[in-house]
Amino acid sequence: MATLASSLDRIDLVTPSVYQRGYPWADWALQRREAPVYWYDRPGVTPFWSITRYDDIQAISRDPETFISSRRLVVREAGQGDGGANDPSLTVPNLINMDPPEHGKYRNATSRRFSPRGMTILEDRIDEIAEDVIDRAAEHLVDQLTDRREMDFVRDVAAKMPMAAICELLAVERESWEDIFRFTNEFLGSEDPEYQRGRSRRETWQAGIRGLQGYFTAHIERKRREPDESVMTTLVQAEIDGEPMPEQDILSYAILLILAGNETTRNATSGGMLALIEHPEQFERLRTDPAMLDSAVEEMLRWTSPVVHFARTVTRDTEVRGVPMQAGETLAMWYPSANRDEDVFERPDEFDITRSPNEHLAFGGFGEHFCLGANLARLEMRSVFRHLIGKLDGFEVEGEPERLASQLIGGIKRLHVSYGVV
Ligand code: HEM
Repeated sequence: MATLASSLDRIDLVTPSVYQRGYPWADWALQRREAPVYWYDRPGVTPFWSITRYDDIQAISRDPETFISSRRLVVREAGQGDGGANDPSLTVPNLINMDPPEHGKYRNATSRRFSPRGMTILEDRIDEIAEDVIDRAAEHLVDQLTDRREMDFVRDVAAKMPMAAICELLAVERESWEDIFRFTNEFLGSEDPEYQRGRSRRETWQAGIRGLQGYFTAHIERKRREPDESVMTTLVQAEIDGEPMPEQDILSYAILLILAGNETTRNATSGGMLALIEHPEQFERLRTDPAMLDSAVEEMLRWTSPVVHFARTVTRDTEVRGVPMQAGETLAMWYPSANRDEDVFERPDEFDITRSPNEHLAFGGFGEHFCLGANLARLEMRSVFRHLIGKLDGFEVEGEPERLASQLIGGIKRLHVSYGVV
């Protein structure tokens, strides 16, 4: 019989292909129960503390002096880059891998634009985009007799909305949306053979980042010449300590917004859709009572938790849950695991759109780096599902959903569905 130590030691949280089979729920549950602060040490991986409980992730996120982001932001197999500010594949540090006090200055440059109030400017536009996306889906017709339609929900809905929203936010012209989408996939999905197309992970990643840099270098110049109401213009005009924000920083800021806003929301939307289809009684409940939309979106976020982890580096000797940690060691916070923590959520493995309270950690642990785009993501998801339940119904999944091979973003690559029109 396997001992506890050997059961823990065979857990693999770092190899991207593990996630093609879905999230390792049982492994995280075992760690939460038996070793919530677990020293993850495997050949080919720089060792780190694996953190799986809600309270610990929240406490770490709220102490950005002891647990910094700049050194190591992601855990990977050896030689794949760590996403930290010193990662040679990133030309400059950006918001997500900055630390206080620098971080606050850069965050303040745009944070008002992402507040619930700031979002009201975008509300109508997002709603129009969502309506257009769903109307197009309603036009698909595959079977004249049954009036059934088919689509890849990821391609046709879940991916369209966030890309359009973020492009809108940054005033990217329509004809460039497709390019931006491809570069984003290459950068964030670089582990995935489909996006690699014969290239190594690093080459794929670099192709994506170079494409984005090329586009945004020119875009910054355009916005200097022709300022407008967009967040891009806010960035171009931003000041740090009374000086204009350096061009390199504007560039990496814009690229971070594109990257952070795209795949995350896409996967929360497609994962949320899959959860609704798999729980038809909940889907029906939402349809008959659209006032549930806000809490349904929160539950989709908790359930899908599309960001799998972020890492931190310990700056001084400290302890987490009584386990001593030394300065220089790193840790990874597994957000989906926190969102199934049985000490915090009743019936954590049940999908329940009426769940309340639902203080999930899908957007992070309510600390210094809490997701800047949380209000935007919520707005997008509400708009998509509001139009969807009003216009389409009878959804069925056709075949197996295909999942992304990534230990950073939990994603569904393809979700073929059939459906009817209300
Ligand atoms: C469902 C969709 C999304 C999820 C699940 C998500 C999740 C996260 C998480 C877990 C973090 C790190 C939090 C932490 O370290 O405490 C984060 C940070 C961030 N997110 Fe999101 N995100 C989503 C959508 C967006 C959107 C739409 C945007 C933007 C336009 C965005 C922009 C950012 C930025 C800029 C940061 C870095 C903030 C900082 O370092 O201060 N995200 N997000």
